[in-house]
Amino acid sequence: MKIIENNKVFMIETKSTHYVMAVDCEGVLNHLYWGKPCKAEDYISTYNGWEKNSNHSARELSKTEYITFGGTVYRTNAFSAKYADGCRETLLTYDSHKITQKDNSLLLEIVLKDEPYNLLVTLCYRIREGYDVIERFVKIKNDSGDLIILNKIASGEFNFPSHRPYTSTNANGSWGAEFRMESTELKNGVLSYESKKGGSGHTNNPFFILSQNADEKQGEVYFGALAWSGNFKVELSRDYSGTTRAVIGVNDFDFSYNLKAGEEFVTPSVFCGYTNGFAEMSNQMNSYAVEYILPVRYAKEPLPVLYNSWEATAFDVSCEGQQALAEIAASIGCELFVMDDGWFGERKNDRAGLGDWYVNEKKFPNGLKPLIDRVKELGMKFGLWFEPEMVNPDSDLFRTHPEWTYHYDTRKASLLRNQLVLNLTRYDVKKYVFSCMDNMLSQYDISYIKWDMNRAFSETGAENLENQQELWYRHIKAVYEIADALKAKYKDLQIECCASGGGRADLGSLSHFDMVWTSDNTDPLDRLEIQHGFSLLYPIKCMRAWVTDTNRRKRPNDLDYRFNVSMQGSLSIGGNLLKYTKEELDIHRKYIGLYKSIRKTVQFGRFYRLADFKRDKIYATQYADDEQSVVFICSNANSFFNDKFIHINLAGLDSEQLYEVKYNDNVIKRSGSFLMNAGLDFEFHGPLNSLIITLKRI
Ligand code: DGJ
Repeated sequence: MKIIENNKVFMIETKSTHYVMAVDCEGVLNHLYWGKPCKAEDYISTYNGWEKNSNHSARELSKTEYITFGGTVYRTNAFSAKYADGCRETLLTYDSHKITQKDNSLLLEIVLKDEPYNLLVTLCYRIREGYDVIERFVKIKNDSGDLIILNKIASGEFNFPSHRPYTSTNANGSWGAEFRMESTELKNGVLSYESKKGGSGHTNNPFFILSQNADEKQGEVYFGALAWSGNFKVELSRDYSGTTRAVIGVNDFDFSYNLKAGEEFVTPSVFCGYTNGFAEMSNQMNSYAVEYILPVRYAKEPLPVLYNSWEATAFDVSCEGQQALAEIAASIGCELFVMDDGWFGERKNDRAGLGDWYVNEKKFPNGLKPLIDRVKELGMKFGLWFEPEMVNPDSDLFRTHPEWTYHYDTRKASLLRNQLVLNLTRYDVKKYVFSCMDNMLSQYDISYIKWDMNRAFSETGAENLENQQELWYRHIKAVYEIADALKAKYKDLQIECCASGGGRADLGSLSHFDMVWTSDNTDPLDRLEIQHGFSLLYPIKCMRAWVTDTNRRKRPNDLDYRFNVSMQGSLSIGGNLLKYTKEELDIHRKYIGLYKSIRKTVQFGRFYRLADFKRDKIYATQYADDEQSVVFICSNANSFFNDKFIHINLAGLDSEQLYEVKYNDNVIKRSGSFLMNAGLDFEFHGPLNSLIITLKRI
């Protein structure tokens, strides 16, 4: 790992890639190269500033490192601002740079300046030993005496080397169908993925993956994942000359930001990289996130097996009912009991109560203490659901403070799930939300919060703000600040990020929350696809996966199958345990026990997708650490067409080592090279079949 500057050519060398930029003859920072390492001497700026012709300037065709709106560049830009004199163009040229070393990281900061306006834009690149991941962010400093209005502030612009079209992969999801990945070839024009709803949303996800001839094991893969949970935009473009570029950052939709004299704005980080194949991408991001992105307190601890009450009791919670569930949850091996929605205010259904974060006395006449005491006696920790950003019109909070929601006096407020969004950009609202949660946490022994968020924003008036278009950004910042403040005060608190399932699953939430609720869809077959998408860039341990009574969805599948799917993430239980037979509870006990013996490997091991789940009609994942390895195989079909033999080549083993391989009642011994090269054959009967294979180094 090193960063070298030579004659204003900047070379960032990661574990196995080079990322290179150079200041050109006009002082503009250009991108030179990103990919497998080359000889440093060959990195020379070739931009010559000549006009190409009167319609396509040299600058427009050049690979700029951070293109601003203005001049003769008309393609997608990364930055635009308006200055006090009315000028709306920005011209950034090289000013200075700095390379600093801290622990095992290097940070390159290249300061660019718009001279007449004293605007300093610092492009920052941080690399860490052992990774090809580059963290990029931008600092924007107003060193003038006047207001500068920022209209677009992407976290990075990226240029890709090949002139052949790249394949772009992103989610095309919806509620209950998050992370459904689709790939498309970008031949020309602009392709954008974005959210305008306030949260990062269920539809697209804030990242880009661009690949060429890639599969799990090999091929060119470029990626960048934005650490932002609000409105975002990923703009991929390919121009007529064949250059593919990406711009990623906070969405400029209905956005602007008043950068006052002397102020600085720092964009969210984008974590980007170039790898050989998708498995390498996922593995690097998986362990990088554990090492450097997740909140430190629990990053390296395996997550507990939790029980969540939502699918069992919905809003109908009571002390006795929850205690009864807790008894069984503890008896099957759960370590954390989370009471979901319904415990507060007048919350009988989703039409009332949000905002009134005090215990409903009819449901809990003696408060939550008797329940929490019992949960703790049973040896579990206790967790509680909140939806802090929301209010129902039918609530004491709304009756007292109707002005605390985003609103316009001239518009009727649109309700979604009978609720409105609180204006968290107001200091008093933010303080209220924090104090409600603080009040519960200081009164009760609560180790875990599930932070939910169940609607998109609308009528986004925020008259408290000088520039109301800042609200999209400030709201998410406030969410992060409240979560951070709670964690700072309650050092052992874990927080789960939920937004109607996985509506805010991104590296922004994962910088402040410990895990995410991946989807409200707990059907195991659907879940396989959702989990596949999540696993591309996000850490496996953060993927909460419940085993529930999914036959409610009229697609019966046995408990073994449900467990085999959920054990591929952070195993959790969500069914109505009171209705289960002794045999069913025994199955729970058996798998929870097994999961505890493999969870370190699952949550922290190297991770491989062994099959193409659409093509092969099976979903197979492998988790490996130095001692053991676990493989899950689940058929990805609900028909008897899948009644066949399957063949699997394992990955990530030591070729020279001998392994004891266990599946069903079989125990065999094979070398790592055999398991990876020759592979294993299995008979797979019927639909929704599944298998766990465990391997131990001998
Ligand atoms: C949506 C979440 O995704 C569910 O898990 C549950 O917590 C409900 N909200 C509660 O209202």
